[in-house]
Order: sequence, then C-alpha cells, then structure tokens
Amino acid sequence: MIGVFDSGLGGLTVLRELTQRFRHADFIYLADHAHVPYGDRSSDEIVDFTRACVEDLFNRGARLALLGCNTATAVSLRRLQQQWLPQSKWAGTHNVLGIVAPTVEAATQTPWAVTSPQYPQKYNTDTIAVFGTTRTVSSGVYPEEIHKRCPKVTIVQQICSELAGAIEAKSPEAELEALVAEGCAGMLAQTQNMPPHRAILGCTHFPLVEHLFRRHLPPFTRILSQPDVVADSFEDYLVRRPHYLAGNEGGRLALLTTGDAADVSSKARVFWPDVAAFSKA
Ligand code: DGL
Repeated sequence: MIGVFDSGLGGLTVLRELTQRFRHADFIYLADHAHVPYGDRSSDEIVDFTRACVEDLFNRGARLALLGCNTATAVSLRRLQQQWLPQSKWAGTHNVLGIVAPTVEAATQTPWAVTSPQYPQKYNTDTIAVFGTTRTVSSGVYPEEIHKRCPKVTIVQQICSELAGAIEAKSPEAELEALVAEGCAGMLAQTQNMPPHRAILGCTHFPLVEHLFRRHLPPFTRILSQPDVVADSFEDYLVRRPHYLAGNEGGRLALLTTGDAADVSSKARVFWPDVAAFSKA
C-alpha cells in the first residue's frame, strides 16, 4: 500500500494522478485537517505533525509514504529521512519521499542525482516563478536546488500565504481569484513585468485554482504541472523498487483525515464531485 500525505486537500491533486496511473496499487491518503494550514507554522511543528502522520500511514500498512505537500517536504523530508526513519522500527523496510525533487528535475531538465551544472542546462537563462507557502518560500529549497543544476536561471519566489487556507475554507471563487491575482501581481512586480518562462505552483493546493493562475499569469508563462511530474518520477521509482507494491490488490483507496470527516468530504466535493468519503483517522 502507498501512503500519500498532505496537510489538507491539496495532496489529492497528486493522489488523483497516481491512482489513475497505478491501477495495480492500493493507496491510503491522510490529510492533517486538525492542523491545516501548515504554511505559516514553525518548522518544528511541521516536522512533528508530518512525522506523526507518516507513522500513522506506516501503522496502517503503507510501506512507502509520499509527502504530497511542498511545505512538509521542504521543511521536514530531510529530517525524517536522515534522523527519524533510520532510528525507527521501519528502518530498511519503509521509505518517505517528497515532491520537491521531481519538480526540480522537471524544471531543470536534470536528474536529481546530478547536482552540478552540466551541458546544456548550465547555459539555461530562463526565469522561473515559484509560488508557495511562507515556509516553502523561506526554506529556499527551490532556488537552492534549481541553481545547483542551472546557475544562470533567475528564480522569482512569491509567497501566497492565505491561498491554501482559503481553498480549505471553501472561500468563494471571487476571493480565491483576488488572492491569486495579488500573488501574480507581486511576482510580476519582482520581474518588472517581464513574463517568466515557467511557473511552479509550489503548493499542492494551488493546482485546484490553476485556472485562476492561468488567467492572471502572462500567456507566455507555462505552468509546470506538479501532479504530472511527481507521478512520472514515482513511476520510475516504483519500476526500480517493485517490492513496495507486493501484496497490493489494486484499486483500493482509503481517504482519512485528522479533522471532521463529514466536513472534509463536503469540501473535497467542491473540487471533485465524485470523490469518495473521508473517514476519521
Ligand atoms: N498543500 C501544502 C503544500 O503543498 C500546504 C498548504 C498548507 O497547509 O499551508 O505546500
């Protein structure tokens, strides 16, 4: 069974891509609605909440947990992989993955294992806009990892601190659009109105309002689809480690939340009318 985690509903954008591609896999999704949004929380809180949710996924039978959350990945993945997991009872049999690495690979057209500029990407002078939560942006993970591989690329980061919370709160479209418009204007002010070549919606909630980003970004700017690139990379990973799918029947899916299951189910249906009901974790 594959576990997918997010602070809230955003990770469903990734989960949906995965369930469509991996019909032979079983999935369990855990959303931490008791603590959403994570974006403005302290690093220690984000690490603690993420670790608790990964433990829960492992206790329920997942052997691989994907953090379908940029904030959790940016702030806690390294600590979980390097400090917590090796000391835990799951060392050697289970793993935790994040979504920043595949996104950086796609944005730089460079494999994650390559950590220095290589021809031809070292001559890449594109501008890339990264929209994210406060914690994702302040972690600096996107500029740092992109610049290792493409040092001449210009990165413009834009915090959209209220957007994930507003999406979770079922805010009206006009309010969401105002927040997206403000974020896009802030980003364009940084580039002096030069359109970036690409935009990374670096929060898994943001693809839920991708149509609004499309409306407010210059037509020239391509939006990188994080759910797609994460699924591509996950596919490569699983092909090389098929044991993570051993015993899977295929097509089983459980949706869990640490919050109010009925309320979360109704919020999820705003974006996906056909989504299954959430249960209390
Ligand atoms: N969906 C999350 C992300 O990708 C975080 C949203 C939040 O909880 O602030 O960053």
